[in-house]
Amino acid sequence: MENLKIKFAEQGLDTVELMPESHLLDALLARDIDVKQLCGRRGLCATCHVYITKNPENLTPPTPRETLTLAVLTGARANSRLSCQAKIIGDGVEVALPEGLYIDSYESLEKLIGQRTTVAIMHPVTSEVLVPANKIIIRTIVEKLEQLNFDIAKVKHIGA
Ligand code: FES
Repeated sequence: MENLKIKFAEQGLDTVELMPESHLLDALLARDIDVKQLCGRRGLCATCHVYITKNPENLTPPTPRETLTLAVLTGARANSRLSCQAKIIGDGVEVALPEGLYIDSYESLEKLIGQRTTVAIMHPVTSEVLVPANKIIIRTIVEKLEQLNFDIAKVKHIGA
């Protein structure tokens, strides 16, 4: 079987070719995009969320779990998919990445206190913007992160 091409809407990311039935996430990983895969590819977090800008019909339809997760993502749109759930079944799918950085732990955000963000910093489960772009990260964000660690524990529990 021939490989299928996946394109990126972003400048500077080359087309990836993958075997049919590969997960869309593998295309992101092939371009060294830092996808945190917080839920371990189980369709329960926001960290592998993408927008499909061309040929969405060349992906498998959303699973019920994916639909449920997307329903609670702050940044979700009609063309949203979870790339760990969507399999590639045709040529020419084009992907756009959400703008921002998913933070995966209390510790990683704590290290950034006092710094100015270049992109938005987002919650890894709900995709809520914790710190908008071009803002100084302040200590009150830490409180939100305590909540975040709790959410992750809950997600793991649900998926177990
Ligand atoms: S890695 Fe968590 S939903 Fe895809």
